[in-house]
Amino acid sequence: MRILITGIAGFLGSHLAFYLKKHSSKFPIVGIDNLSRKGSETNVDRLKKAGIKFHFGDLRNPADVNKLPACDRVLDCAANPSVLAGTKDLSSWKETIDHNLIGTIHLLQYCARHRAGLILMSSSRVYSIRGLNDLPLFETKKRFFLNLHAKKAPLGYSMRGIRESFSTEGPISLYGATKLASEILAVECAAHYDFPLYINRSGVIAGPGQFGKIDQGILSYWIYSYLFGRPLSYIGYGGKGLQVRDFIHPDDIGSLIMKQLARAYSAKRPRIINIGGGLKRSSSLLELSDWCNHRMGFRKQIKNSGRGRLYDIPYYITDFSLARSEWNWEPQVSMEQILDSVWGYAEKNKERILAFF
Ligand SMILES: NC(=O)c1ccc[n+]([C@@H]2O[C@H](COP(=O)([O-])OP(=O)(O)OC[C@H]3O[C@@H](n4cnc5c(N)ncnc54)[C@H](O)[C@@H]3O)[C@@H](O)[C@H]2O)c1
Repeated sequence: MRILITGIAGFLGSHLAFYLKKHSSKFPIVGIDNLSRKGSETNVDRLKKAGIKFHFGDLRNPADVNKLPACDRVLDCAANPSVLAGTKDLSSWKETIDHNLIGTIHLLQYCARHRAGLILMSSSRVYSIRGLNDLPLFETKKRFFLNLHAKKAPLGYSMRGIRESFSTEGPISLYGATKLASEILAVECAAHYDFPLYINRSGVIAGPGQFGKIDQGILSYWIYSYLFGRPLSYIGYGGKGLQVRDFIHPDDIGSLIMKQLARAYSAKRPRIINIGGGLKRSSSLLELSDWCNHRMGFRKQIKNSGRGRLYDIPYYITDFSLARSEWNWEPQVSMEQILDSVWGYAEKNKERILAFF
């Protein structure tokens, strides 16, 4: 079964390519990337050395997509994954739509043409910002918690976290909107042209190899900022750093993808599932700072800015019950291992990171 990975030189795309290569010889891999992510070019030689065929190309350009060889499955990891993407001005707004949505449309045409199954990497950012800000929370000294006894609360969450049925009402950020629109068009195209489709909505991904941009994963950004003495701020929600996210290691995404590739496709399975670290692999910013203070052996001053921004959310934890029941999957890499892996990578690769950070 030949696999095409888009965004293969990026953090997740490259990680999944190496993961699949390591865990099975059944999947010859080809990949495409336009290297728009600063630092992604440093992965190209490593991919080639691992026997992965790399195509330099841009999904916005149909000719580049048409040139790709026929594959049985497509793993779509190409996007500008920033919640701030497209917010600078109207031309960046259009560019984000071109990368994240027009690129997907060209890929859907490829899937229809070759009857290639698609695994679309989507995001928890498809969920309503207002809905997430309306979650009933209470605060402790270190973090927000969900108040499960509140009388008035939005639908679609449980003590485990946010479910697939949570509202997707906008605003959800331009990034979230391009992801949600990609999902909707993928479902239509797959139904009409009869190709397999799974959509994985992921919470924050964290692991070695991230390029250290705030838009790409807060955990790496926070740790790198400690290591390289860059300023950090708690933004919004009173400036106390109580906002909470869960984190998933890319190996845990790899183990799910292996199952999705290896098992015969069944249209009866839910197309859309949430994946993420869940409550056990979650942290507030303040807790993250505590971990870094302890590891670095000094207490870093973090600025407080109580003033929030349009796309901030106070709390996101994934309820991955559906992924567990449908795929017998759950994350295995612990929070401590995630933190250690990012820290270990950062210490060993200071020069590489500093080139982009
Ligand atoms: N990083 C996270 O925490 C996170 C969370 C949820 C979902 N996701 C999704 O996972 C996927 C991968 O994210 P990532 O963190 O690896 O980001 P990344 O920026 O490291 O990788 C994306 C890659 O796609 C490439 N790319 C972008 N536009 C392209 C285009 N038009 N044509 C060809 N290549 C293009 C970039 O050069 C980059 O190498 C994205 O779809 C993102 O939405 C990421």
